[in-house]
Amino acid sequence: MENPFKFGTIVEAEYFTDRVNEVAYIEQFVKSANHLVLISPRRFGKSSLVTKAVKQSGRKHITVNMQQVTSVSDFSAKLLKEFFKVHPLERVRHLITHFRVIPTVSTNALTGSMDVSFQPGVDGVTLIEDVMTLIEKAHTEQDRMIVVLDEFQEIRDLAPKLDKQLRSIMQEQKHINYILLGSQESMMTDIFENKKSPFYHFGELMRLEKLPREDFHQYLSERLATCYAQNHTELADRILNYTDCHPYYSQQLAANVWQIGVLQPETPDPVRKAIDHIVTTHSLDYERLWMNFKHTNKWILQRLVSTKPLQSGEYRTSTIYSALKRLQKDGYVIYSDHYEVEDPFFREWIIASNI
Ligand SMILES: Nc1ncnc2c1ncn2[C@@H]1O[C@H](COP(=O)(O)OP(=O)(O)OP(=O)(O)O)[C@@H](O)[C@H]1O
Ligand SMILES: [Mg+2]
Repeated sequence: MENPFKFGTIVEAEYFTDRVNEVAYIEQFVKSANHLVLISPRRFGKSSLVTKAVKQSGRKHITVNMQQVTSVSDFSAKLLKEFFKVHPLERVRHLITHFRVIPTVSTNALTGSMDVSFQPGVDGVTLIEDVMTLIEKAHTEQDRMIVVLDEFQEIRDLAPKLDKQLRSIMQEQKHINYILLGSQESMMTDIFENKKSPFYHFGELMRLEKLPREDFHQYLSERLATCYAQNHTELADRILNYTDCHPYYSQQLAANVWQIGVLQPETPDPVRKAIDHIVTTHSLDYERLWMNFKHTNKWILQRLVSTKPLQSGEYRTSTIYSALKRLQKDGYVIYSDHYEVEDPFFREWIIASNI
């Protein structure tokens, strides 16, 4: 029997739950001529949500994950490759006559997959401008293409002033809806909310929350019932209490609980056993992580996993605040209505290590 829980990759079809309003909102939104910016802490389900919404919209769409891009030239090549998947080269050859640098398109004889590249040393901005112009040319105001740029905050590290150059290309375009996704919260807000940033108020800002408890509970409970006929409801409750409905960690814990149910059905407390197993598996990583934290960060993390208050006189409020912001930016701490350690298993490790 296959594990009915999935974590770590984009989830679709039967692995995807809820987000009904968000999917409907995005589908409706891209019917307008506007752009969307989606922000949330890591692993809340941005990529899965947008994948589902753009597929459901029935519109032509392409996605590039900026985290996998190594230079502006590589960005141009990846965008063009995705474009050719939607518009086969034979049909748009006449549209690439404006290219100042002609791309090389090759096919892998073994896998049949296509590859696109540009000769090295060419100015990346020229390339990206030509590729974006091609997308614009291939579409109309009635038939806009959706271009999803995942982990968009990465453009800041790609090349100096790239944000300014991209913005000036994008603002002329009328045949594309951009959906820009990002997870490093403060950097994303700085890109879109800072008046000095070229992308200031570029699109509608949408924030994604954790999954609603009721729906997620039903999702977990139904699937756990395949190996826990009696107590699946209670187990789903305990999982969500532990992960506070975090999409990724809930699926991870549920997958482990389910596995125990199949392999060791006599286990008295499968949730506890699964938590211990996950913490043990990651303890080397946690240890390495911990050793590299500054004292202030260690102190803050210890406070967050305890019931003790952050304001204690030990550190100045401004020191605590700026350290918290940094921890949040790096993804170790998240803020919804209070600050908390992002990874519940890391939280467990900190408590257990008693350091
Ligand atoms: N709608 C959903 N239903 C069920 N599980 C979900 C849903 N959305 C996310 N998840 C869980 O969270 C995991 C992460 O989802 P996804 O990769 O879409 O998030 P993300 O915000 O794009 O993450 P990252 O910050 O790593 O890019 C999935 O593998 C899945 O386990
Ligand atoms: Mg993602």
